[in-house]
Amino acid sequence: MANLSSSKSFSFITLIVIFQLLSTCTTYTNGCFSSIISFGDSLADTGNLKLLAAELKQQPLHFFLPPYGETFFHTPTGRCSNGRLIIDFIAESMRLPLVRPFVSGKRNGVRMMEMRRGVNYAVAGATALDTSFHAANGVINPTTNSSLRVQLEWFKQSFSSICANLQDCRHLIQHSLVLMGEIGGNDYNHALMAGKSIEEIKTYVPLVVDVITSAITELIDMGAKTLLVPGNLPIGCSSVYLTIYYGSDSVEYDDSTGCLVRLNKFSEYHNELLQIALNEIRELHPDTNIIYADYYNAAMQFFQSPTKYGFINGALKACCGGGGPFNYNASIACAHSSSSVCVLPDTYANWDGLHLTEAAYKVIYKSLFGGPFTTPRFNSVCPNSMLHEVNVLSSSM
Ligand SMILES: *[C@@H]1O[C@H](CO)[C@@H](O)[C@H](O)[C@H]1NC(C)=O
Ligand SMILES: *[C@@H]1O[C@H](CO)[C@@H](O)[C@H](O)[C@H]1NC(C)=O
Repeated sequence: MANLSSSKSFSFITLIVIFQLLSTCTTYTNGCFSSIISFGDSLADTGNLKLLAAELKQQPLHFFLPPYGETFFHTPTGRCSNGRLIIDFIAESMRLPLVRPFVSGKRNGVRMMEMRRGVNYAVAGATALDTSFHAANGVINPTTNSSLRVQLEWFKQSFSSICANLQDCRHLIQHSLVLMGEIGGNDYNHALMAGKSIEEIKTYVPLVVDVITSAITELIDMGAKTLLVPGNLPIGCSSVYLTIYYGSDSVEYDDSTGCLVRLNKFSEYHNELLQIALNEIRELHPDTNIIYADYYNAAMQFFQSPTKYGFINGALKACCGGGGPFNYNASIACAHSSSSVCVLPDTYANWDGLHLTEAAYKVIYKSLFGGPFTTPRFNSVCPNSMLHEVNVLSSSM
């Protein structure tokens, strides 16, 4: 600094001031946040796995093919649904661009700068725990090695090319909404599908919650001020498990929904441990907004009263799949040549067995951001009046 001429340092300071004014403006025009930084799995992946697979010249997975994406994008984008995901509705409501997959820009500095207003590290199939942990337990992840820790590494390595300098990066993280998940669901899914018992996967829960907690803590250390942390969906309501456990004793089913009680209790157990951990982080970081997103109970609304949300075909049967009582067959996945897709996806909550339809994600989005399904209420962190698209979205329900 000392060898700068006074006029030079004057213009430098002016630039900083202008820059800060600009960033403040951006913060306001977008509602409450100037960017979204996302981690997670197929519930949030907006294209990373598809791009990674193309890079590695792997066989396209079924969800890179039509009819995936048919409803909103009219082309497969790598999203595991017929249309938009919760993260897309969040971005729209904050007048931010749809959050770009990190992999689309990681080899290109210019495009990384375009990710200032949102960057997504979520990868479909990702687990919270590293694949080495699961491999040691005999569970192989067929889809990806990009666990939460790997995604956080990508973030640390790439973020400096999204922002200008340390101060700018910290400022950007501070004004970002950080979406931490959903993540962890696949740690259980992959293990259950490999034949592990619920008792055994229960022992993973504290470990999964620990990985999520330490990722959150690292992000807070880097400047994060607002993190939205979703819990697990009620997996006992997914067509996959309803098919695997088809014909179970009637006491295994919840009368009001037709979902499998033991699996839903398991999701609730994960969610309880996660919330206890979030409370501990809140005590250590009282000036940080740690928002728990209750995906479980938000989704339970339509599992309990599907027709109320327009799911006239019920909430348990998949729109797209290979037949059977829940239109799910592991050997004939959605997009397989022998699979079939429903005509009106908006009348189904379940898209392909494991993932939900855009219509179901929209209900969850609205329940979180306009309703009571976050703790604390999202409204207390960012007033609903700041959320642009909410009214537009509500009118379509
Ligand atoms: C995961 O990593 C292992 C070991 O490096 C590798 O053999 C495997 O191909 C990777 N899997 C995927 C899906 O990338
Ligand atoms: C899945 O499809 C295969 C091949 O058509 C069939 O043999 C099998 O019985 C089906 N499984 C279920 C659960 O419907």
